[in-house]
Amino acid sequence: MSRNRDLRDLRLKAEQLFPGNTEDAYLSYKGRLEKGEPIAYILENIEFFGNTIHLNRDVLIPRMESEILLEMACKEIKHRSFENKALLDLCCGSGALGLGAKRECPELLVTLSDISSDAIKVATKNSEVNNLDVQIIQGDFLEKIEDQSVDFLLFNPPYISKKEYESLECAVQYFEPKQALLAPEKGLFFYRKAQEELPRVLKSGAQLFFEIGYQQGAALIKIFSSTFWKNTRVLKDWSGLDRFFFLEIQ
Ligand SMILES: C[S@@+](CC[C@H](N)C(=O)[O-])C[C@H]1O[C@@H](n2cnc3c(N)ncnc32)[C@H](O)[C@@H]1O
Repeated sequence: MSRNRDLRDLRLKAEQLFPGNTEDAYLSYKGRLEKGEPIAYILENIEFFGNTIHLNRDVLIPRMESEILLEMACKEIKHRSFENKALLDLCCGSGALGLGAKRECPELLVTLSDISSDAIKVATKNSEVNNLDVQIIQGDFLEKIEDQSVDFLLFNPPYISKKEYESLECAVQYFEPKQALLAPEKGLFFYRKAQEELPRVLKSGAQLFFEIGYQQGAALIKIFSSTFWKNTRVLKDWSGLDRFFFLEIQ
């Protein structure tokens, strides 16, 4: 069923881009699909939280779980007054999370940030095609983020350990950027870094929404156990696995 849908989508793309040579273009796309390339990279875009997100192999394909993260985060953000409040999508990749938040809560002042200049190009294109006015910054983690400037944080960093990476399906290992997936210290490196460095950039009352690996919930609670952090919670995804970590400061 899903393969039929994929083939129909590929034919549509071939018809749109190559009206004079549709069959050759279609067969070339189909060949890539048969070799295991994810359909999202062949189509070069997905629909995510009301936006069309352009993709290439410089960025991770946003996962369905990340839509749950965004849904839960936006619900909490709307519960609070979010006018003139600033949201940072740290490690933004394609920008899908931050742009989804901007679509849902237009008054938010949204910043997208990533270390990869190629990812920043994709995020910039996505802000333009979706006509969303956001700030986009290339930088290593929080180096370019101003002191006490963040009210809400969306954070889906690389969190796959070396061991887990080796067991990922071949299509992920072969086609998706390693820098977007793999993190040292059993996948916990960026959460530890966040624990140390975030206090500088957070405004009082800030709320933080993380995506985490399904075996990392207990470790996250431990990493963020100092009294600076409030209301730390591990939340589950649709399959009942730990997948999100929310917390706040006073
Ligand atoms: C798991 S991907 C998430 C992308 C996007 N947030 C999403 O949910 O689709 C992690 C991103 O972190 C970025 N990244 C890796 N190391 C970084 C660093 N030191 N500072 C900022 N971004 C980094 C990668 O380039 C990649 O785009």
